Amino acid sequence: MDQAAVKLAPSILAADFARLGEQVAQAEQAGADRIHVDVMDGHFVPNLSMGAPIVASLRRVTRLPLEIHLMISNPDLFLDEFVEAGSDSFLVHWEANANLHRTVQRIKALGKRAGVAINPATPAAALEEILQDVDQVLVMTVNPGFGHQHFLPTTLPKVRRVRRMIEQARLGCEVEVDGGIDPETAPLTVAAGANVLVAGTAIFDGGEGVATAMNRLWASIRQGAGQLSGVFAKE
Ligand code: DX5
Ligand code: ZN
Repeated sequence: MDQAAVKLAPSILAADFARLGEQVAQAEQAGADRIHVDVMDGHFVPNLSMGAPIVASLRRVTRLPLEIHLMISNPDLFLDEFVEAGSDSFLVHWEANANLHRTVQRIKALGKRAGVAINPATPAAALEEILQDVDQVLVMTVNPGFGHQHFLPTTLPKVRRVRRMIEQARLGCEVEVDGGIDPETAPLTVAAGANVLVAGTAIFDGGEGVATAMNRLWASIRQGAGQLSGVFAKE
């Protein structure tokens, strides 16, 4: 498989919120591709997290794209607010939206990148009629709602299927994975076809510092690439 360099998207859900600006700056300096912001409503997922004011604060301290993962039941209601706060892209859940096509078109009309996220129990085939309209697909590798969960290995064949669908349709979508990504699981997802890796715990929670943690992830991917020919990691 021939794919571009693997990108890391640190998820601030696992950051120390008292030092958020500092930790995001460290991630930017260490080569993060974007910052992943997990928004939860206590309805679509059984947890609450953060809203647009956090995005507005982040916008003032980083030039990195801000990717908003909307784990909420009615994403359309909040798009304008998040755009105004400085968001660059949105990931909306297939399961949360009976009018996904309309939401994706709205995101694009707002001039932002659109992605669709699928839960572990949602098949890759659900993407068939929306793939040509999105810039990225997010394959959840845990059930959404919480950080610090264990990676579900049963999602790996799905990552492979999604990558194959994109190649067969000759599309340029990114394949992103989210949940339980660490130096052990990262190379597996890359080998399966992921090129954007979201990581919270593995980057912010290890006590070794953001840059060291990110370098450890990249090293694990490079090592995996050495063992699995044709898979490229960030140099
Ligand atoms: C889970 C979130 C993830 C989460 C990942 O619902 O979508 O982005 O922050 O965190 P870790 O890397 O701790 O699994
Ligand atoms: Zn997420």
